[in-house]
Amino acid sequence: MNIVIQTPRLYLRQFTEADAAIMRQLNNEPGVLQYIPEQAPASDEEALQILINILLPQYQQKLGRLAVHLKENDAFIGWCGLKWLKESDTIDLGYRFTPATWGNGYATEAAAATLTYGHGELQLKKIVAHAHIDNLASQKVLEKIGMQCIGEGMDSGMPVKGYVSFSNNL
Ligand SMILES: CC(C)(COP(=O)(O)OP(=O)(O)OC[C@H]1O[C@@H](n2cnc3c(N)ncnc32)[C@H](O)[C@@H]1OP(=O)(O)O)[C@@H](O)C(=O)NCCC(=O)NCCS
Repeated sequence: MNIVIQTPRLYLRQFTEADAAIMRQLNNEPGVLQYIPEQAPASDEEALQILINILLPQYQQKLGRLAVHLKENDAFIGWCGLKWLKESDTIDLGYRFTPATWGNGYATEAAAATLTYGHGELQLKKIVAHAHIDNLASQKVLEKIGMQCIGEGMDSGMPVKGYVSFSNNL
């Protein structure tokens, strides 16, 4: 297992091709894609193709969404990580957690550690994030980890708030 980041309650590891089923399940949980312009994979095979074509290649640049597990029982609870967005040539912070775990501060804990990892270990000067204007929980997470809201706009056809974080080494 390739663990990249650890926090007091969580560890974040790289996904592998063996994770297709848990990715399909997460994206099919009610509410998970409410504010995200994506279709949930209908099969493990479809989820596997997303892993192979979109997710796993990001690891070559030390970026990528990471599987988040609870240290206390190794349960998979979602993902958090950095992704290079080709269209804007920016590094995006994103996360997605299974609804049964919402409200425990896990997203904040994982996202804060990922931001620190990005600015520190990876020496990224700028990290961006976007949240649907009605996704108040996600906006709260981004604000709690210190990202700055830079206004509203459209992203993939949906109204979003944009956020940015700059490293202190600029
Ligand atoms: C957004 C998401 C990651 C938050 O996960 P989480 O583990 O519940 O986050 P945390 O517990 O760390 O923090 C959530 C904060 O939002 C607050 N919150 C939750 N729902 C809220 C709402 N409807 N209005 C205002 N604040 C809300 C919580 O109270 C908490 O703030 P607090 O610590 O000050 O009380 C989770 O809801 C999720 O996975 N959603 C589906 C995927 C998604 O939308 N991803 C983000 C795409 S931009």
